[in-house]
Amino acid sequence: MAPEKPFSQACENNKQPILERIRHIFTSPGTILEIGTGTGQHAVHFASSLSHVVWQPSDRPGATGFSLGWIEDAALPNVLPPLELDVASESWPINCIDGAFSANTAHIMTWEEVKAMFTGLAKHLDKGMPFCLYGPFSYGGIHTSDSNRQFDQHLRSQAPHMGIREMDDLLELAERAGFRLENDHQMPANNRLLVLLKL
Ligand SMILES: C[S@@+](CC[C@H](N)C(=O)[O-])C[C@H]1O[C@@H](n2cnc3c(N)ncnc32)[C@H](O)[C@@H]1O
Repeated sequence: MAPEKPFSQACENNKQPILERIRHIFTSPGTILEIGTGTGQHAVHFASSLSHVVWQPSDRPGATGFSLGWIEDAALPNVLPPLELDVASESWPINCIDGAFSANTAHIMTWEEVKAMFTGLAKHLDKGMPFCLYGPFSYGGIHTSDSNRQFDQHLRSQAPHMGIREMDDLLELAERAGFRLENDHQMPANNRLLVLLKL
């Protein structure tokens, strides 16, 4: 029996606008690591258009099964089976990567895990390689919309470690880890796509 296919309406809404940005970033052949793949809708949508890259989905141990339905149904030659990767783990089970992508993870992870995500990627990406981080962020302590403010309150009421991240904090952390912000794209629904390059 085919695995169940969890569905995210947000992924359906945002996948094409994200693709229109990342097609200009992941331009060279190579392997792109996706952190926190979730349902797999992003993975198959991006890989089906970016046939020059190999897409490597990943998620926390126990969560990789969520993406199997979408990945197996799409049967794309350039999507690898999802890896079990917790960013907080000491060593990551990956070899060579040429870029990285993650959507809607920074506000779910603990701050320590966000740090670990950047530190781990800094170890695996060479100079000039991109990390694209998508999601909602606040600027100067101010949310970019009422809906983001409400979403932030909702996250924090669910678990105190979650919450929309402040851009100044994130950039300080990214720079310490060895990245510089190349671009901060405004995206639909009050989200952003940050393009960070390994120094
Ligand atoms: C809100 S979901 C986003 C899923 C998908 N990227 C999307 O945009 O719909 C957050 C994802 O982050 C993953 N995640 C949370 N903590 C993680 C960690 N420490 N290491 C790797 N992934 C993590 C979760 O398992 C989940 O797949």
